[in-house]
Amino acid sequence: MCGIVGYCGVKQASEVLLEGLKRLEYRGYDSAGICVGEGGCLTTVKCKGKIRELRSIVPVDLKGTYGIGHTRWATHGEVNDQNAHPHSDCSGNISIVHNGIIENYSVLKEKLQSDGHVFKSDTDSEVIAHLVSSLYTGDLEKAVKLAAPLLKGTYGIACVHADEPGVIIGARNGSPLVLGIGNDEMFLASDVTAMMSYTRQAVYLEDGEIVRIDAHGYTTSDVTDRAITKKIEHIDWELQEIEKGGFPTYMEKEIFEQPLSVERAMKGRLDKEIATGHLGGLNMTSSELLNVERVKLVATGTSYHAAMVAAYLLETVARIPSTAELSSEVRYKNPVVERNALHFVISQSGETADTLYAMRELQRKGARVLGICNVVGSTIPRESDGGVYIHSGPEIAVASTKAFTSQLTALYLFTLLMARMRHLSFEAGSRILEAIESLPGLIAQVLSNADAIKTVAHKYCAHGNFLFLGRGLNYPVALEGALKLKEISYIHAEGYSAAEIKHGPIALINEETPSMFLVPDDRLRDKVITSMKEVKARKGKIIALAVNGHGDIDEIADDIIYVPKANDILYPFLMVVPLQLFAYYCARKLGRDVDQPRNLAKSVTVE
Ligand code: M6R
Repeated sequence: MCGIVGYCGVKQASEVLLEGLKRLEYRGYDSAGICVGEGGCLTTVKCKGKIRELRSIVPVDLKGTYGIGHTRWATHGEVNDQNAHPHSDCSGNISIVHNGIIENYSVLKEKLQSDGHVFKSDTDSEVIAHLVSSLYTGDLEKAVKLAAPLLKGTYGIACVHADEPGVIIGARNGSPLVLGIGNDEMFLASDVTAMMSYTRQAVYLEDGEIVRIDAHGYTTSDVTDRAITKKIEHIDWELQEIEKGGFPTYMEKEIFEQPLSVERAMKGRLDKEIATGHLGGLNMTSSELLNVERVKLVATGTSYHAAMVAAYLLETVARIPSTAELSSEVRYKNPVVERNALHFVISQSGETADTLYAMRELQRKGARVLGICNVVGSTIPRESDGGVYIHSGPEIAVASTKAFTSQLTALYLFTLLMARMRHLSFEAGSRILEAIESLPGLIAQVLSNADAIKTVAHKYCAHGNFLFLGRGLNYPVALEGALKLKEISYIHAEGYSAAEIKHGPIALINEETPSMFLVPDDRLRDKVITSMKEVKARKGKIIALAVNGHGDIDEIADDIIYVPKANDILYPFLMVVPLQLFAYYCARKLGRDVDQPRNLAKSVTVE
């Protein structure tokens, strides 16, 4: 949420900043700006709109070898030119970009205004520029260190001063900040994608840390001036992974990557000899795992739907009582941490504020919390007590797709591990293991049906409302299908357990409201078919996601999207992929910006 980039070096900073912002645009895209320094003078260019709009107004001859940039997802103040970052103090000598929320900004603003500071925007962020200015006595780093303890809330900040050419000061509290080390150049950004064209050497800042960079190096310290030595980490992602690679959109690329990303999630984690999952990062001994009497999975959005599938599976297959909860609710309910409960937080980005704060609250109460994350080096994996990286590669489209199937893969392996340590026989474990291993091939089969899915999507995309209905393991998948459709096509869609519609939602059924039924070949199939008949009787249009080779659905459904027959537990994977494609093709047909849908941002780092 909001992207920050900073550069000090020998290149023209405006080009590096614009390129970095383009790569960060998925974090927020309502307005953007840069501030470039040259010879004791700062020049700011900013506007409402996307990076392409910003690029069109940045003078080609804008000189300066250091600067800061920002792409915004508005929290305080409407989307307009003035509220775009960077923000400056009254003199224009200090310029800042900020990611996060300053909770006490109105108190600080009042005080600064009474001291004569004049504000130009409605943002909480501008207060930082004026505060730093009020504390500046010739040393920007010192002023930021004095300002930081006065700011309540979350921030990742980059700050420059006209009188200190070539220097950027960064500060982190709750919003990610990473610095990149190049040859005679240094970078600062809210995530590594902004700097990957230039360097693979990264240093991740922790909360409370302040960094000073210039073209030749960096120093890290805290607000008390205590020097902090940081580890330099290598960024493993390849540049082509953050490019579209011939696809028209990132979302399509990421959907079609799933055979590969699921394979990566299971690589080296299938132990055939003892028919179990092998997850090295859990940091738990066998006896600790055996003592687990309850599993609680905490997440939000798509990751929450993965948590729901996993809770169902852990309970039915591993026979461990398990629940999924929304992280935003966990944090504020004064959660009970039971003895012998194991907690998971699941987050693609590893930065989602609701999930991060829920994790910290659980840890404060003594819980052991493991993370299931994608972004290596992000905050949740660094602060959790262990966990599993899903290795999906960068997920750039705002709508999460490949991360979901990779999260499921990791959670299925965990379920297998827990089940095998308990009652599950070698033979039954082997069957599950083989099923998991067959996933990449089965997902590829589903993807080969993309044209048929597109035809169905084009037939239905003019409808304004949809219901998505599934049961058992596929009930969360119905929720996920509805979420995908609404977030990228702006069509209203709701997901329910197919059994629940008769308790209310069936009142919505008419010829205008199609229902997408998930009908896997499992033990609840007949029950789902009964719900389909109830909808049919009320003249509701039905699209069925069903297994090839059963004539009975033909009579009820208006359209059928076929998926291959598989082991029951695999249907969440085989059902979600067509739903991702259905949402995608509807959105494209309606002319939506699928990668950057309105009002959204990829990584939600504010509450
Ligand atoms: O990075 P996280 O997995 O923690 O993100 C959670 C949600 O913000 C995310 O899944 C969101 O709902 C997506 N836009 C769904 O496609």
